[in-house]
Amino acid sequence: MGSSCGAKLTILLSLLLVSWIPYRSSALDNDASLFVDGSFGRKIPDTLFGIFFEEINHAGAGGLWAELVNNRGFEAGGPNTPSNIDPWIILGNETYLIVSTDRSSCFERNKIALKMDVLCDDGSTTNACPDGGVGISNPGFWGMNIEQGKTYKVVLFVRSAGPINVSVSLTGSDAKTLAVSNIIASDSSKWAKMEVLLEAKATDHNSSLQLTTTRKGAIWFDQVSVMPLDTYKGHGFRKDLFSMVQDMKPAFIRFPGGCFVEGSWLRSAVRWKETIGPWQERPGHFGDVWNYWTDDGMGHLEFLQLAEDLGALPVWVFNNGISHNDEVSTPNILPFVQEILDGLEFAKGDAKSTKWGSIRASLGHPEPFDLRYVAIGNEDCWKPNYLGNYLKFYAAINQSYPDVKMISNCDATSKQLDHPAHLFDYHVYDNANALFSQSHKFDQVSRSGPKVFASEYAVTGGDAGKGSLLAALGEAAFVIGVEKNSDVVEMASYAPLFVNTNDRTWTPDSIVFDSSRMYGTPSYWMQHFFRESNGATLLNSTLQTSSSNPIVASAISWKSSEDNKNYLRIKVVNFGSSTVALKISISGLKSIESLGTKTVLTSNNVWDENSFDEPEKVVPFKTPLDNVGENMNVVLTPHSLTAFDLSI
Ligand SMILES: *[C@@H]1O[C@H](CO)[C@@H](O)[C@H](O)[C@H]1NC(C)=O
Ligand SMILES: *[C@@H]1O[C@H](CO)[C@@H](O)[C@H](O)[C@H]1NC(C)=O
Ligand SMILES: *[C@@H]1O[C@H](CO)[C@@H](O)[C@H](O)[C@H]1NC(C)=O
Ligand SMILES: *[C@@H]1O[C@H](CO)[C@@H](O)[C@H](O)[C@H]1NC(C)=O
Ligand SMILES: *[C@@H]1O[C@H](CO)[C@@H](O)[C@H](O)[C@H]1NC(C)=O
Repeated sequence: MGSSCGAKLTILLSLLLVSWIPYRSSALDNDASLFVDGSFGRKIPDTLFGIFFEEINHAGAGGLWAELVNNRGFEAGGPNTPSNIDPWIILGNETYLIVSTDRSSCFERNKIALKMDVLCDDGSTTNACPDGGVGISNPGFWGMNIEQGKTYKVVLFVRSAGPINVSVSLTGSDAKTLAVSNIIASDSSKWAKMEVLLEAKATDHNSSLQLTTTRKGAIWFDQVSVMPLDTYKGHGFRKDLFSMVQDMKPAFIRFPGGCFVEGSWLRSAVRWKETIGPWQERPGHFGDVWNYWTDDGMGHLEFLQLAEDLGALPVWVFNNGISHNDEVSTPNILPFVQEILDGLEFAKGDAKSTKWGSIRASLGHPEPFDLRYVAIGNEDCWKPNYLGNYLKFYAAINQSYPDVKMISNCDATSKQLDHPAHLFDYHVYDNANALFSQSHKFDQVSRSGPKVFASEYAVTGGDAGKGSLLAALGEAAFVIGVEKNSDVVEMASYAPLFVNTNDRTWTPDSIVFDSSRMYGTPSYWMQHFFRESNGATLLNSTLQTSSSNPIVASAISWKSSEDNKNYLRIKVVNFGSSTVALKISISGLKSIESLGTKTVLTSNNVWDENSFDEPEKVVPFKTPLDNVGENMNVVLTPHSLTAFDLSI
């Protein structure tokens, strides 16, 4: 037990009286030494740690994408959707109005419109409309978050045989009107776009949009949108969720899936051309793997924009003609290949001289995006047509975009690939011990073949609950292994990033949210320990331990862009249940400032989780660290991830 630790204990003796004795004796049983060689280092790839965004758990639709209306165009369909207007509800009964849908929309790719036959009338004494009129209401995604003083832009398309007088309101869960405006038009037998700005005079996180009238006759609605004006740079991303992602400093963003890209059937696969252009013209689609409708407000352009806004490199995963249940045969794959070449041109092509580049420019982004990575499919290596289709995509992209790196779905951690690739996907979902053991997973991977993209990793199952400390510690060990093997691992991302608590299809996740609240799971906070690793220098570190606790550690140094100073960070996972006294010896560094910091992610119980009620139960806790030097004695709390930050 070291001097700094002893000194601290003396000062704190009165506070620690009860725990002091077992604390010290267990520390003596568990000794470990870490040697850090500051003179030897290797650059960590700039791309190492990023994020994986999949449209799962309502991550985008009803999540990061700020659109408040759910099923904007009345197009939603699919096995879990009782009607194509769900979740819209009808205000008033059939004495007053009949609601139906027809195919009279002015938009070719989403023909369905909603028709209201209003039977009651303002002027009538025998059949007057109920107070507040009759109409339809949309609850958004389990309630719209409407906030006092904020402005919401309502856009809708409407048509009627007679004059129009529709009340557009945002209504709280207690039926109070938060904002209202009337749309008035004298003649609108042709579809007309109507726009109103509503400023909320109170806050309610569980509001709805209501469209009501007291005027008799037939009226049609289509493509109804409510967007807060206050989104990230006006780009449509929910600001609070965006900043939680931005705080992770992701170097890349893999999108838009995952199985979402594949579909259970090819008819539900993501087709990027259906996701660009004016939102009201996008067909939307039912994602039949995660079982919900998306209006595709977050399309190919929005994903590329999101990457740019995050300062992250886009990693586009496209469908290579394979879903979970059906496949395009290799002789028929060329139209799919062309679609992907067009998608690359849309991202990278010149705004003037290329067709799809000029379409991108016309949509408001003349500068090409920095798209350098694409993945040919998702988890499809074992499918009959994978290799055949893969080679077609590979050859075409290699020819047209030689600068784009291609990612194969075939795991080459223990064998050689039979096809060319720059990187290959490695996915792991397992219990905490398994992830801990995988801190050595990449030690044996061939250094001469393609690089590893650990594109999906997480502790799942009983160890994870809805996001436990235990899960985060198993993952931390795995990620330390990624860092130490970053000569062969080029990228890694946890999965999934988001869950809307009302649609927990996949648990656990990094960020949990509802209409207005959010918190990070311990796995989210674990990733913060690696924020400075991209582009940093990995130092040679050797751990010697006589402790019965499983421990892994790594050391990096980097220059902070904020203060231009150099830092050393040592990260250690103590996966065991006792305290460990760790002696750190640092050689080969010119000078070490005597004051550092210690940041610990731990809790009283490994099963502890965060929640809306206790969002910060398990979060990193930072304290000053004194008596820092070439030789220092530190203490590792049971079940903890600790970062020691030294200024050098
Ligand atoms: C419709 O609502 C009115 C007012 O609540 C009620 O009197 C009437 O019976 C209802 N009609 C039907 C068909 O449910
Ligand atoms: C809104 O109310 C519904 C029904 O009570 C509930 O299921 C949903 O979780 C609520 N949403 C929020 C954000 O409170
Ligand atoms: C529109 O309807 C509202 C009731 O919702 C009424 O107060 C208003 O006078 C009407 N306006 C016109 C121009 O008819
Ligand atoms: C990629 O394209 C280059 C240039 O055309 C060619 O030399 C190379 O063989 C191609 N690579 C593969 C694996 O097809
Ligand atoms: C890393 O450190 C260990 C132990 O100090 C040493 O044996 C090894 O040679 C070092 N590796 C390099 C590449 O310096």
